[in-house]
Amino acid sequence: MLNGGNLLFNRESLKPEKVIAGKLLADLIVSSYNKMGCDALNIGAYDLSLGVDFLRKKEKAAKFPFLSANIMDKHGKPVFTPSIVKKINGVKVGIFGICSDKLKLNKIPGGNKLKIANALAKAEETALQLQQQGADYIILLTTLNIRQCRRLGQRDMPIDLIVGSSKRNRISLPILVDDTYIVHVERGGKSVGRLDVSFLGPAGVQALSPAVRYKGKAVGDNLFLLNHFHPLKLDIPDHPEIAPMVKKVEISLSRLRQVKATQSMTIAGGGEKVKMAPGNSYVFAEACNKCHSLQFQRWQKTAHAKAYTSLIKNDKHFDEECISCHALGYSQAGGFTDLHQVGEFANVQCESCHGPGRLHVKSEGKTKLNRDLANGKMCLKCHIEERSPDFDLETYFHNVCGAAAMPKK
Ligand code: HEC
Ligand code: HEC
Ligand code: HEC
Ligand code: HEC
Repeated sequence: MLNGGNLLFNRESLKPEKVIAGKLLADLIVSSYNKMGCDALNIGAYDLSLGVDFLRKKEKAAKFPFLSANIMDKHGKPVFTPSIVKKINGVKVGIFGICSDKLKLNKIPGGNKLKIANALAKAEETALQLQQQGADYIILLTTLNIRQCRRLGQRDMPIDLIVGSSKRNRISLPILVDDTYIVHVERGGKSVGRLDVSFLGPAGVQALSPAVRYKGKAVGDNLFLLNHFHPLKLDIPDHPEIAPMVKKVEISLSRLRQVKATQSMTIAGGGEKVKMAPGNSYVFAEACNKCHSLQFQRWQKTAHAKAYTSLIKNDKHFDEECISCHALGYSQAGGFTDLHQVGEFANVQCESCHGPGRLHVKSEGKTKLNRDLANGKMCLKCHIEERSPDFDLETYFHNVCGAAAMPKK
């Protein structure tokens, strides 16, 4: 099991208030990768967010090597193990790591003590070394983007497989460039890629069943590759040993946030600000019930009306990363900022979509509210690809609360 890098954090540098949480998560990732039986991790920019010394400590706790052939000290010596050779089922597999040379050293604690060597040149040099050491199959783990991976593939280096994890490339498209196979799994642990590599006998591909032959790809004379991607969906059961480890960290994080939330009334976040006309403010769903009871009853039956409960169930209601889409008016004018004071702002309400309604209610409907909602574009503020992959605007839009959703009289 291999990881292309950018595993431990999701930013190049952590804000001071995120450091404790970041460390807890990094520890959790390393210990769960230990349990899963990881073979090697490449170091990317997002692994260096707390500096080299921190990463070295994590490496001690890991049962697998941290690789990098192009992160050097000032004297040009590699800071991490550049490469390893492993014997797997009798085959000598060489594995090495390369990070993007665009990495911003000034953002990394202690980064002034480092140098990043040219990625392509180092990749070539290390691959040739591995070949000389007798590796039968050579794998590069890298945070280079797909374009750069392709260039590597075209350069006729002895690299059989590139496992990429650039922060920019989110799609997983296995591609073959000359004799190099390139796989790029989505960031953030959203899916697992499995590549079965078989060495073919003298009969070549013909020895395989047609069904298998059709799904995979023969490379060169004797290699056969079969690629699978497994998105990690919520309904996949958790590992019995890892699940409790995750739960424990989630509870610690939740406590941490409770402390922070009470200390600070002004947590940033929430994104784009809603304009608030003078005298207007939020009046909450119950206030609309009086005149729009059909819409109210309809809304009560939707997931929107229970969106905050979903966070509570997952111990995430004090997580500022979640609240903006699961409640009304977080960090907005007339809204709330203290995660402890969510009160009536809980859930996605009428005013999340139609805008603040005080003036509308006061004028008994004469002050117009938002009705066409930019043809549904506003739904996409919350229904982003990452959170709502199956969102189908066409079918949902007219049903969410409008006339189409009402029972026929
Ligand atoms: C303020 C954020 C927000 C906006 C704006 C929003 N939604 Fe949602 N929506 C959510 C959240 C959060 C959930 C999940 C609630 C839960 O289950 O916890 C959800 C769930 C849904 C669901 C049920 C889940 C599903 O995919 O089957 C539908 C349907 C839906 N929204 C449609 C819409 C439509 C249509 C619009 C635009 C008119 C819209 N939403 C605007 C946040 C939003
Ligand atoms: C950008 C807006 C957004 C953010 C941020 C967000 N959510 Fe959601 N969430 C949604 C939407 C939209 C849905 C509805 C998904 C669907 O079914 O299409 C949803 C659904 C859910 C659901 C219920 C459906 C399910 O998959 O079980 C849970 C639980 C949930 N979110 C938890 C969280 C947690 C925890 C966080 C913070 C880590 C979070 N959400 C952050 C928009 C968001
Ligand atoms: C997720 C976003 C969303 C929420 C939440 C929501 N609405 Fe709507 N509402 C819409 C959309 C979209 C339309 C337009 C539907 C159409 O054009 O078919 C609409 C239409 C309406 C209309 C116009 C008349 C009609 O039936 O077409 C009224 C009135 C209304 N909503 C009231 C409410 C009230 C009251 C609530 C809360 C109880 C509410 N809405 C919650 C999105 C929402
Ligand atoms: C005192 C009664 C009353 C209350 C309370 C009320 N509305 Fe209305 N609403 C109306 C009237 C009247 C109309 C105009 C209906 C028409 O022209 O067909 C209207 C129309 C709407 C429309 C269609 C667009 C528009 O402005 O014409 C939406 C959306 C809407 N209301 C949402 C809400 C929401 C959300 C709330 C709660 C914040 C709410 N209403 C509270 C009386 C009310």
